[in-house]
Amino acid sequence: MTLNNRHLVDPNDLTLDELHQIIDLGLKMYENPKAYREICKGKILGTLFYEPSTRTRLSFESAMLRLGGTVLGFSDANTSSAKKGESIADTIRVLDDYADILVMRHPREGAPRLASEFSTVPIINGGDGGHQHPTQTLTDLITIQKYRGSIENLKVAFCGDLLFGRTVHSLLKTLSRFPNISFVLVSPPELKIPYHLRDELLQEYKVEIIETSSLDEYLPEIDILYMTRIQKERFFNEEDYIKLKDSYILNKDKLKKAKEDLLILHPLPRVNEISYDVDDDPRAKYFDQAKLGIYVRMALMALLLGVA
Ligand code: NCD
Repeated sequence: MTLNNRHLVDPNDLTLDELHQIIDLGLKMYENPKAYREICKGKILGTLFYEPSTRTRLSFESAMLRLGGTVLGFSDANTSSAKKGESIADTIRVLDDYADILVMRHPREGAPRLASEFSTVPIINGGDGGHQHPTQTLTDLITIQKYRGSIENLKVAFCGDLLFGRTVHSLLKTLSRFPNISFVLVSPPELKIPYHLRDELLQEYKVEIIETSSLDEYLPEIDILYMTRIQKERFFNEEDYIKLKDSYILNKDKLKKAKEDLLILHPLPRVNEISYDVDDDPRAKYFDQAKLGIYVRMALMALLLGVA
């Protein structure tokens, strides 16, 4: 099966081979972008953003423009007919005639899956509620591949809001399928990963998991540290957020105990979970990660559109 004309709603829609195919092409595009600058000439990307975004939307736009295509869309649900009560199904039935590929971000979990059932063009999930964010996962994986040389034999720590963080959920599920990966899940007790995900990781993927509230204790032994912000918008009340918002702050001093070849990742935006004094540490790769996100989205769209 090829990737041509497929949807990407959940990272598990892709096999390991397909993940590698997208990452490898993304790295080629990163090394030699000029070779690909016309392959999407005449193609239109539609961006349907019902929730705020900076990197995901703009990296998709940048990616399509760098492939020679064009972009249309909205970045605020209030300016679309959703505000008038239009259903996702109706919106998609129309927009799949306006664009050749669609990326959708929605606060409701499952919205992109629903869209994919009505769309005649590829639908890409740009993040649905606290559920999944497969293209951030591709971004994370290409960064690991580039800076570690492979995606295997790694102890990966996730730190912060593991309950609501969709980037965490997607990456955990996906990394579990790579060889010899184990996890250290660092969060306050209130923000541990959802039970169903924990069961899935343990029973289906049989990965090793340590759940802890102490980052310091495990920092010396981990290979990748995936920091995340506390997801303010998904809390039911402000008080709980305020209580938890500064649970973890990574700084230069704490990093003294970490491995020399640690990779520090963050999907961004950062609030205050990584202090600015970490940014010039060679192990901090979150801005490189954001940049690689353009190239992996270029690769993904080129493959879904059948032009690469
Ligand atoms: C993430 C998201 O939207 O889930 N941002 C992103 O796409 N890079 C992470 C976040 O908002 O914390």
